Amino acid sequence: MNDFIKIDGLKKWYKSKGVTYEALKDVTLNLRKGEFVAIKGPSGSGKTTLLSILGTLLSPDEGNIRIDGIDITKLSQERKADFRAFYIGFIFQHFHLLPFLSVYENTMLPLSTIKKEKEYKKNLVEKALSTVGMLEKKNKLPSEISGGEQQRTAIARAIVNEPPLILADEPTGNLDSVNSTVIMEHFQILHEQGHTIVFVTHDMKMSEYADRVIHVEDGLVKEDEIFAKEDTIHV
Ligand SMILES: Nc1ncnc2c1ncn2[C@@H]1O[C@H](COP(=O)(O)OP(=O)(O)O)[C@@H](O)[C@H]1O
Ligand SMILES: [Mg+2]
Repeated sequence: MNDFIKIDGLKKWYKSKGVTYEALKDVTLNLRKGEFVAIKGPSGSGKTTLLSILGTLLSPDEGNIRIDGIDITKLSQERKADFRAFYIGFIFQHFHLLPFLSVYENTMLPLSTIKKEKEYKKNLVEKALSTVGMLEKKNKLPSEISGGEQQRTAIARAIVNEPPLILADEPTGNLDSVNSTVIMEHFQILHEQGHTIVFVTHDMKMSEYADRVIHVEDGLVKEDEIFAKEDTIHV
């Protein structure tokens, strides 16, 4: 099968004050390109740890991960930064927009190190903002827009460099149900455009958008449900 992400025997432990805590005990998973995956599980079960390792923000203690054939556990810090810039868009629960930058400038941030003309970058930013319906508010500051709009801006920032893999940690955790639905509908569109999406959620309603739900408990995958969708394109 067309495995885009191969996770094999992943373990992660945290040591604090002489005590070792096993956050991921032995996770083996394969994800296909274009899959729309929800990770569910109780608080403290290892969801954020798993997502952070997938995004190369955290290194595992044991195991291998290949993304698009690249063994991400073997990359140097510098290569990891390059890998993230090309492959990954992150979305967080608390949006993490810079308060003194406009919607437009926040969305431009991931492009700041890319050596391309201004016009090229402007086109990418406008495309990302229009995907999430935020182009008209591009000159607003985060404090001048709603929580849902802030998260839509954070999505624009995550997709501006057109990364194949989108990782979102409880992206609707700080939003009401109306705004949560709007965010999930944007994810649905990105999924239809071919992005691979992995998002963490507590919310049953949000996980219904996914075509695969992985239940994590106590640092292990307890259940892995794949839902066949008529509109799923298998390539
Ligand atoms: N930096 C850290 N230092 C020590 N323990 C941590 C750290 N980060 C997470 N943990 C612990 O690891 C476990 C899994 O955490 P996490 O991956 O954040 O879970 P989740 O996202 O499912 O709530 C929790 O028990 C948490 O307290
Ligand atoms: Mg978490």
